Amino acid sequence: MGAALAALDDLAGAFSLVLLTECDSTNSRLLAELPPDDGRVHVLAADVQTSGRGRRGRAWKSWPGASLTFSALWRFAPDAPVPAGLSLVAGLAVARALEELGVEGVQLKWPNDVLVHGRKLAGILVELTPGRGRVPAAVVGIGINLQLPPDADVEYATGVTDLAACLGQAPDASRLLGLVLVQLHRLFEVYAAAGFSALRGAWQQRNAFANLPVNILGEAEALAGTCAGVDDDGALLLQTPGGLRRVLSGEVSLRLA
Ligand code: BTN
Repeated sequence: MGAALAALDDLAGAFSLVLLTECDSTNSRLLAELPPDDGRVHVLAADVQTSGRGRRGRAWKSWPGASLTFSALWRFAPDAPVPAGLSLVAGLAVARALEELGVEGVQLKWPNDVLVHGRKLAGILVELTPGRGRVPAAVVGIGINLQLPPDADVEYATGVTDLAACLGQAPDASRLLGLVLVQLHRLFEVYAAAGFSALRGAWQQRNAFANLPVNILGEAEALAGTCAGVDDDGALLLQTPGGLRRVLSGEVSLRLA
């Protein structure tokens, strides 16, 4: 954790960092045992997850040293609106940390996959904690591929990649954790003050599907159109023959047509 603390620098006091050698899922663990609200962001990282979870009920597979996997519990002001677009902000934070490490060609696939040259490098699973009709906190779970085993069976339509392939060698996982947390802290502050609209331009600069024909799968009605970026609340904008449509994140998935 030393390298993470060094990367956090004067933000170190804003975080509580716990590293486990193994756990079922860092998201599940944080949700099951909510840490005290002591003003810090509680981060749980694991070397290996035995039941890592991805979006839409998929698994996030794990091998020792293969990926950086962690979750952070972010609490918002009691009167904050439902945090729309939060998972896009998390994707942007990961993209910026990777760029800081020297990774080139980082792109974002709505709602929150991180791609390099079309291949998936990182995934994000944001889960909101329910609380008496309010949304007091979000568990932001992030998995970044460091060095996948050669025989790793990870399914992704356009393939997967890892940082060893992008950079020539895998970076120090602890330093990468610190860099991502710094970016999350910065961007979540902007988001809390000004909403997703303040970060929309930065997200769209990295939009992997900008102006490309796409299909939206997983809703009752399949949609096809041209990706026209994202709205002020993080909804995907799709130009269809019937006009501009807004697609909310959740149980949908976007594919290049
Ligand atoms: C996806 O690509 O579908 C999202 C993957 C999210 C994986 C991370 S790893 C840390 C955290 N714990 C989990 O069980 N999932 C997230």
